[in-house]
Amino acid sequence: MHALTELPADKAAAYDELATSLRALLEGEHDLVANASNMAALLFWSLADLNWAGFYLVEPERGDLLLGPFQGKPACVRIPIGRGVCGTAAERRATVVVPDVHAFPGHIACDSASNSEIVVPVIRGGKLLGVLDLDSPLHSRFDDADARGLEALVRIFVESLGS
Ligand code: SME
Repeated sequence: MHALTELPADKAAAYDELATSLRALLEGEHDLVANASNMAALLFWSLADLNWAGFYLVEPERGDLLLGPFQGKPACVRIPIGRGVCGTAAERRATVVVPDVHAFPGHIACDSASNSEIVVPVIRGGKLLGVLDLDSPLHSRFDDADARGLEALVRIFVESLGS
C-alpha cells in the first residue's frame, strides 16, 4: 500500500528533489525498459496518492500505444493513438491533465479506483516514444505544477536514453 498521504506544500521543490533522485537512478544506463521501469517505481513510491504510474510505448508495427513498465494494478494493454487520455496526449503531443476522469469523453477505465489522471508525452528527437501516465484515486490530484515537474522528469528520462 502507498505510504504517503500528504501532498507537499511546495510541489516545485519536491519535483526538484525527485529530479536529483531520478538522475542518480538512471545514471550510466541507456536501456529504455530498465530506465522506464525504475522511473515508474520511483514515481509510484515517491508521489502521494497514486494508484498507478507507468508508461505506454509506441509499438511500431501497428502504431498503437502498448503497455510498458508500470507500478499498480494490471492495466489495458493496447490504446490506439487518439483514444482515451493516453491516446489524446500522444496525438496532441502535449500534457493532458484530467481532474475527473469520469467526465473525460473516451476515458479508458483500467482501475476503478482512478478518479484523476495526468499523461505526459515522451518525445525524443521529434519522435513520439510513448507517454507517461499517472492515476490517482483523488479528484483533481494533478495541476500545472505536476505537469511542469513531470515534464522535467520526462526530459531527464529521454536524455538518459542517449542519442
Ligand atoms: N485511463 C487511461 C488508460 C490507462 S490506465 O489509466 C493505466 C486512458 O484513458 O488512456
